[in-house]
Amino acid sequence: MVIAIDGPAASGKGTLARRLAAHYGLPHLDTGLLYRAVAARCIALGRLADEAASEQAAKTLDVADLDPETLRTAELGEGASVVAARPGVRAALLDLQRRFAGQPGGAVLDGRDIGTVICPEAPAKLFVTARPDVRAERRFRELLGRGEDISYDAVLADILKRDERDSGRSSAPLLKADDAVLLDTSDLGIEAAFAAALAMVEARR
Ligand code: C5P
Repeated sequence: MVIAIDGPAASGKGTLARRLAAHYGLPHLDTGLLYRAVAARCIALGRLADEAASEQAAKTLDVADLDPETLRTAELGEGASVVAARPGVRAALLDLQRRFAGQPGGAVLDGRDIGTVICPEAPAKLFVTARPDVRAERRFRELLGRGEDISYDAVLADILKRDERDSGRSSAPLLKADDAVLLDTSDLGIEAAFAAALAMVEARR
């Protein structure tokens, strides 16, 4: 069983993906980490603006190298959305994601284009969203908890900018697949959101 979960930043899709993966005993890939890792390599080389450097970083990426702790910063979220708009970077990361999804028994993948591009045949697709102010509040608390020195307004501005860049790009824009089920988590706690997501997946498998 492949479960494809898409949605904007801080919508709750990552938490739901982890919970669903644990529930079904499936491997989980947070595909945002791939783009964050590409951005991290480019920034370390001082070459975020260099398209060829980002493609090279994407081609040589190894899933085993992904360290969520170091990759989930505000700076890398922004950098990820810059490199993610480049078709060459997306093409270089396609096989790796499809291989992950093709594991015997299935997998859970979350990102922006899982239901539309990476796993269009997945039986269970969720599009998770929430109001921008709610997402900014969640991300603000998460970043504060990680010790980042950041303001709520800066986080909200970053989320709105990323929404626009991710939805407006021509290569695999953030888009709900026609056959994805919409889940708005704005007014749901984690348990209620998980119960709703689980019911949606059960109805599809
Ligand atoms: O989900 P996360 O905040 O880690 O994603 C970082 C950025 O990576 C997103 O803003 C988006 O630009 C990009 N991304 C993408 N396609 C995916 C996952 C993430 O373009 N499947």
